[in-house]
Amino acid sequence: MTVTADLAITLDGYVAGPNVTLDNPGGDGAEPVFEWIHTLASWRERQGMTGGDENRDSELIREWFDATGAVVMGRTMYDTGEEFWGDNPPFRTPVFVLTHRPRPTLVKEGGTTFTFVTDGIHSALEQAKAAAGDRNVDIAGGADTVRQYLGADLVDELQLHVVPVLLGDGLRLFEGPGAVRRDLELIRVVGTPSATHLKYRFPRR
Ligand SMILES: NC(=O)c1ccc[n+]([C@@H]2O[C@H](COP(=O)([O-])OP(=O)(O)OC[C@H]3O[C@@H](n4cnc5c(N)ncnc54)[C@H](OP(=O)(O)O)[C@@H]3O)[C@@H](O)[C@H]2O)c1
Repeated sequence: MTVTADLAITLDGYVAGPNVTLDNPGGDGAEPVFEWIHTLASWRERQGMTGGDENRDSELIREWFDATGAVVMGRTMYDTGEEFWGDNPPFRTPVFVLTHRPRPTLVKEGGTTFTFVTDGIHSALEQAKAAAGDRNVDIAGGADTVRQYLGADLVDELQLHVVPVLLGDGLRLFEGPGAVRRDLELIRVVGTPSATHLKYRFPRR
């Protein structure tokens, strides 16, 4: 069982722009962080659409979908993604949403369920591991959530899709509570015009 975290990030370290709201889910100016994914054939397939670009980026996103058996995310990522993902969200796996606000589980089309977990990151991870079978658990975001799992040393592999843009402001992944010094081992680099895909493993001590 591998616990992954997989995020798109600007060259200057932002995973979203400033002023994130439900109407502005990626924040100001952050289209380059997300838009390259939405044109890919593998993403479009998962959104029930045809067409799109069949390229190395698309293969990497398909690899993530195929490898992931359960997802953990924060309530802000859930809230800002919910409308965009629609009735048939692309995950097609159980999703565990960290929150302090209890809610009943939502069952969507295509195999995605959203279970709201109010008793912390370890509980969400254990539930996700139990649901994932022999596939990975992915800590999908946002920054607050991924930072907590990194800080607790619960992530085995980190993949960053570094998009070629300097945003200058926004939501940083690597700062704030939970940010700690860690060594990583580079296990793959794939460069495309859309992103430099960097995959790292955290060596086990
Ligand atoms: N670039 C990328 O690849 C990527 C990926 C994912 C998301 N994003 C972006 O990231 C942004 C959201 O990130 P974020 O850092 O603001 O928030 P987040 O991590 O998505 O969610 C934070 C919220 O999750 C809940 N939470 C977190 N830890 C908890 C814990 N231990 N126990 C209980 N509840 C917990 C709390 O919600 P309650 O208030 O309900 O308690 C908290 O306010 C969005 O703009 C999204 O577009 C980017």
